[in-house]
This record gives sequence, C-alpha cells and structure tokens, in this order.
Amino acid sequence: MAVIALVSAKGSPGVTTSALAAALSWHRRLVLAECDPAGGSILAGYLGGALDGPRGIGELAVGELRDGNLESAFWSQLVDLDAPKRERLLLPGVVDPAQAGSVSPLWQRFADFFTSLERGVPPYDVLVDCGRLQVGGPPWPVLRAAAVVLLVTRAHLPDLSATRSTVRAIERDFTEHRVPPGTLRLLVVGDGHGTSEISKALRLPVIGRLPHDPRTAAVLSLGGTVRAGRPLLRAAGALEVPVRALLDRRRARLAWPGAAAPAVTAPGGPGVSGAV
Ligand SMILES: Nc1ncnc2c1ncn2[C@@H]1O[C@H](COP(=O)(O)OP(=O)(O)OP(=O)(O)O)[C@@H](O)[C@H]1O
Ligand SMILES: [Mg+2]
Repeated sequence: MAVIALVSAKGSPGVTTSALAAALSWHRRLVLAECDPAGGSILAGYLGGALDGPRGIGELAVGELRDGNLESAFWSQLVDLDAPKRERLLLPGVVDPAQAGSVSPLWQRFADFFTSLERGVPPYDVLVDCGRLQVGGPPWPVLRAAAVVLLVTRAHLPDLSATRSTVRAIERDFTEHRVPPGTLRLLVVGDGHGTSEISKALRLPVIGRLPHDPRTAAVLSLGGTVRAGRPLLRAAGALEVPVRALLDRRRARLAWPGAAAPAVTAPGGPGVSGAV
C-alpha cells in the first residue's frame, strides 16, 4: 500500500483519465485524490456534477487552516465511486483554481496524511492526480513523498520532447530534496513511438502503456457507464502489477519513507456517500 502520484508535462496527455481508469480497476482499497492545482475534473465530468454540496480538498483545506481538523474531516469529504463498498473513494479537487490558494500551503500536510493512509485500518493506496507540472504551485511535497511517481506522456515527438525536460526537472528536484532514487517512471498513453525507444530516449523506464481508447476515455471524462472489460480499464488495472513489483523492490532496498507517521482509522459510519 502506498502513495502513487501521476503528473504530466505540458499538453493534455490524460493524467486524470488514466488515474480514474486505474482507480476504477485497482484491486486494493484506494483513495483517488485530485491534487491538480488547476482544478479537479472528475465531479463535473465522470460524476456529472451529481453531489449534494461542495466537497473535496478545497473544503478540507479551509477546515484544516481554520480548525486543524484534517484527520477527522477527511472521510466526510470523499465520494464513494463504487457505493456502498467504500473501496474506491474520490477526494475531489478544487473547483475554482482560486481555491488552490488555500490548498497550496498544505501540500506537505496532505502528503504526510496520504502517506499515513497506507498504514491505516483498513489500509488504502492513494493515487494522486498532480496535474501538469508547469502549472503554478505544483504539489511538489506530494510528489516527493510518493513511493512511485508516474510521469504520464503521449508517445509522439512533441510530447516526448516536453516530457524529457520534465523528467530532468523532477530528477533535479528529487536530488535536491534527497528523495530516494527509483521512484520516477513513465506511463505512456496511446500510439506513437515504441516503448523501448521512448525509455531509451528519455533515460527512464516505462512502467506501462495505456491504449488509445476514445470511447472509454469519453465516458471517464464526460460521464456514463464504463465496463470493466474495456481496453483502457483492463490496461489500467494491469498497471497494478508492475507498480506493486516496484514498491516491493523499493521496500526491500529502503527503510520505508514516513514509516514513523501514525496510522489513521477509517470510520465505518456515514461520511462517504456515493454520487453514482
Ligand atoms: N487513453 C486514452 N484514449 C483516448 N483518449 C484519451 C485517453 N486518455 C485521455 N484521453 C482524452 O484526452 C483528453 C485529456 O484527458 P485528461 O483530461 O485525462 O487529461 P489531463 O492530463 O488530466 O488534462 P488537464 O491537464 O487538463 O487536467 C480527454 O478528452 C480524454 O478523454
Ligand atoms: Mg486533469
């Protein structure tokens, strides 16, 4: 169980769609946290805006700044993507990018809290949509705390060129902040250059490849019913295997980062309600 962050270079390569596809097909309990400073899109998109009131990381940040109540308020800010099982939970992102001002001073706090969820009762993986790195105020503390960072890229030359400079920017930051090596991997979306060619050109391993699947992507972006057998969901679910293998290798090699943080307990009562 771990924090797994997804981020992209410039362009629109499908970070949110890939993260949501993974969230809907993941085999372990998981929270999908929308930490894109430019705003969340799953509530208005996949969930069709079907919520009874404001909910998400913006509300959580306001409460934390006012009352310091992140631990107790967290579970009531989630949406159950697979109600009533509470196994796939969404922490919606900010609705208005102006709200990002409340959230950005708290990235470190959120990073520590997300890390603690992996040792909670029950434990949760946390998939974090960090958006595009170029946007102002990226959630660097979350990226640094993640056990795996997936840099999402399309496979055409302009995307790869933008991704190459983002790889170097992340590597520089991680070195400066003494992040243990080996957390960063490429996640390639769609057709274009070959996987080994991309890995060689960017000097970074590719952890997986998601197919161009416009039908499924449209449902994940705009709402509707998506079937587990769709190519995008199958490939996103299969990602869990190499991610888990990477985590196991890192666990074996390192003292697990954040191991001293206290565990949290998910409440069994109300607070998480399904919007679908
Ligand atoms: N695997 C895919 N196959 C086909 N289309 C896709 C795929 N992934 C994403 N898309 C489409 O690409 C567009 C951008 O996707 P998405 O919103 O996930 O990108 P993003 O990186 O989160 O963008 P933003 O930075 O704006 O948040 C959407 O129209 C989505 O439906
Ligand atoms: Mg997005």
